[in-house]
Amino acid sequence: MCGIFAIVTKEEQLLGPTLIEAGRRLSYRGYDTVGAATIPQAGEIDLRKDAGRVEEVAEHYNFAEMYGNRAILQLRWATFGAPSQPNSQPHLDSDGDMVGAHNGNVVNNVELRREFMAEGMTVRSENDGESCVHAVERYVDQGHDMVEAMRLASHDLEGDYAYVIGKVGEDRLYAIKKGSGLVAGITDDTVCIASDLPSVLPKTRNIVRLEDGEIITFWAGGYEIRKVEDGSLVERQPELVEESMEVAQKGGYAHFMLKEIHEQAQVAGELVHLLDSSPDVDPFLERLAGARNVYIVACGTSYHAGMLGSVYLGRLAGLPTIPGLAPQFRAQYGSPIGPEDVGIFISQSGETKDVLDAVGLAQARGMGVLGLVNVVGSALIRKSEYHIPLTCGYEISVPATKTFSNQVIALLYLSLRMGGHDTAVLRALPAWIEETIAGVEDQIPAVEERVTPWDDLYCLGYGLTYPIALEGALKFKEITYAHCEGMLSTEFKHGPLSAVTEGYPVIFVAGPEDVPLIISGINEVTCRGGRAIVIGEEDDRLRANAHDVIVIPRVDAPPALRPSIATLLSVIPLQLLSYESSLARDYDPDFPRNLSKTLTVD
Ligand code: G6P
Repeated sequence: MCGIFAIVTKEEQLLGPTLIEAGRRLSYRGYDTVGAATIPQAGEIDLRKDAGRVEEVAEHYNFAEMYGNRAILQLRWATFGAPSQPNSQPHLDSDGDMVGAHNGNVVNNVELRREFMAEGMTVRSENDGESCVHAVERYVDQGHDMVEAMRLASHDLEGDYAYVIGKVGEDRLYAIKKGSGLVAGITDDTVCIASDLPSVLPKTRNIVRLEDGEIITFWAGGYEIRKVEDGSLVERQPELVEESMEVAQKGGYAHFMLKEIHEQAQVAGELVHLLDSSPDVDPFLERLAGARNVYIVACGTSYHAGMLGSVYLGRLAGLPTIPGLAPQFRAQYGSPIGPEDVGIFISQSGETKDVLDAVGLAQARGMGVLGLVNVVGSALIRKSEYHIPLTCGYEISVPATKTFSNQVIALLYLSLRMGGHDTAVLRALPAWIEETIAGVEDQIPAVEERVTPWDDLYCLGYGLTYPIALEGALKFKEITYAHCEGMLSTEFKHGPLSAVTEGYPVIFVAGPEDVPLIISGINEVTCRGGRAIVIGEEDDRLRANAHDVIVIPRVDAPPALRPSIATLLSVIPLQLLSYESSLARDYDPDFPRNLSKTLTVD
């Protein structure tokens, strides 16, 4: 999703390097265009922007020389208007003495642009960020001051967004938050704001978190917050952000994705420690025990974790659980849900709009809400009645890996507790994850060579491994750009089998209990010339039937729990295989085209 960063300093100075660095830090959110503006006391705004990567655009337009004491930077992930130079942000107002940039979605953008043009304003793009600027311009032109103009403009701008704006001839900037993230960093002589913490923390740990419906005015060394509703002042002191935020560096790995795959053992250990002392776990389990219906709601990778959680809750706790993609949950269960029901809402970012909208509906109907969230301080944490942090640290790579594993572990823990099982088995997880990574890494290259030439393939699983197959297929789609379909293995013969030709790759994720069933599936593929690639524990039957077997370790867990743990480990080979295939295709797995890490739009 888009990201904004803005800064006001005491002295005029070279701001280019700060802007480039902030762009790099925001880039994990995914983006197509980059832009920066500096705003002078007198004279013309210096605006440089275009489609492309931070490094490319910054070099081409020489961001490094940008000078001043007020600046705005924006990375845009296209929703309204193609990723082009005119649609890049920041945007100027009609006469070029105001500039602003937004993150989010102004849903009445088309109507507003028509109005602005009819009123004689100069509209230069199709982008909704420009509408934020003109919406303010409209009221500034009527004689209102900036804060008042922003308050009035908020009645015109429909949707969820945050934007920052500044005017020539002043010493300050203004920003508003309505639905999208916004934090401010305060030092004695500098104030900066950004869509998220990573872009501010390198400047200061003295942080003010803005709430929805607030406007912040900030200048060198000071700030003032007012409510959009009535313009009243809000008293909020900065808080010292203590949590150790590892600077977004790759730590010796070629990509963040690889680093994050390798971090899975460590973060699993941290989560397992935390779960036993997590204050919301017991009250939530009590609520769960008395629930009429249990829903698990999420999007993307988090949804796959939720699906697996629903299988765990069914198998280990005897609790029927309904998994749902967030928008479909609203459409399908919006009316029947009520206070007797409980929902587990899962999100890495805690900012996915589809998920937040579903939470809003669930809460309006009185449902109990547990948030499983990675990003500390995110909207989902703030909205949830109960929450469990995933303790993964920052996940920079767009394809989620370590957060998926920890989401699954948290759900496994809840299922074990609900089912009266001993959770001590989870303490061995870090060692098993490490063993799996070390064991499969050498097995990946031979299989990668078989899958990379194909732009179309399948990934199949059954029961516990069905959600893993869906997640593996999503990883392939995200970073290899191949069409990889995840499917229940038994469904493959009901149609998709027609795709199989000589060498056509079909990946099977075999749970320890499902080997005989998977063998039938394998043979349906191989007898038609397809190539069967299996992920599972060492098993002669799999070796005898499949072309390739990627072996995961057989864990020493109680028999009733072994399939659940093996399933969790079987995602690792799929993460590594899609990573290697992405590299073989010469793509950047951390930042795949067209995708965004955090989707704060419909
Ligand atoms: C985007 C990301 C996916 C992610 C999904 C849900 O589509 O590209 O990787 O799984 O959003 O994100 P969340 O932050 O809610 O888990």
